[in-house]
Amino acid sequence: MIVASASALLRELVEEDVCEFERVEHPGETAIVTPKARPPEASSPRRVAAEPSGPVPWTDGQPTLEDVRAHLGDCQRCDLCEGRRQIVFGDGDPNADLMFVGEGPGEHEDRQGLPFVGRAGELLTQMIEKGIGIPRREVYICNIVKCRPPRNRNPLPPEVSACRPFLDGQIRAVAPKVIVTLGKPAASLLLDREIAITRMRGTWHDYQGIPLMPTLHPAYVLRQYTPQNRRAVWQDLQAAFERART
Ligand code: URA
Repeated sequence: MIVASASALLRELVEEDVCEFERVEHPGETAIVTPKARPPEASSPRRVAAEPSGPVPWTDGQPTLEDVRAHLGDCQRCDLCEGRRQIVFGDGDPNADLMFVGEGPGEHEDRQGLPFVGRAGELLTQMIEKGIGIPRREVYICNIVKCRPPRNRNPLPPEVSACRPFLDGQIRAVAPKVIVTLGKPAASLLLDREIAITRMRGTWHDYQGIPLMPTLHPAYVLRQYTPQNRRAVWQDLQAAFERART
């Protein structure tokens, strides 16, 4: 009995400290192209206006997603701009009831300019479409940081801080009924404390008056592809969907 609970605790610690902290390259994904290997125009597309300076203009009101994207501009606010192909802003229904927040773009997202389009994204899409039974386009999906961290490492505190006003702007713009955070970093950021994701997932929290449900990151579920983990996420998404419907 003691051995069983000790090994469960150990497993939980290992999962939290190793698996959830560390973002690993997904199998089959190619290594990051270093900034120096890229032509400058590929790493810095000039499709949007240069980065506007000054504080964000939506601290009190409700911006539109276009306002937030325009203010982000061709962002150079942190070092992640040096390695990105493009900014990965967000995807989905601007009026969604359900909003998903992940950690940061990976290789596929950086190439396509859309969040969650790699292997983890395929699983997330399946969870949304088969698990809760709504088309992915009916939810809104974004990340803590909008540019790919080198080698898919965790975003660093200055990078997270630089991007924070834009995540907050997206949340204000979409004004979802429920936020689902994917993995430990997104939940810890929005709840403003280090959380243990395997303990906290499946429980309700609050982000500025919006119910928040932390669940496991789909990349973690892919690595630990157990019936328990799949059931856990399915339950969390069901709970989030039910709450968003009321
Ligand atoms: N992982 C994330 O956290 N976000 C993505 O967009 C893709 C993978």
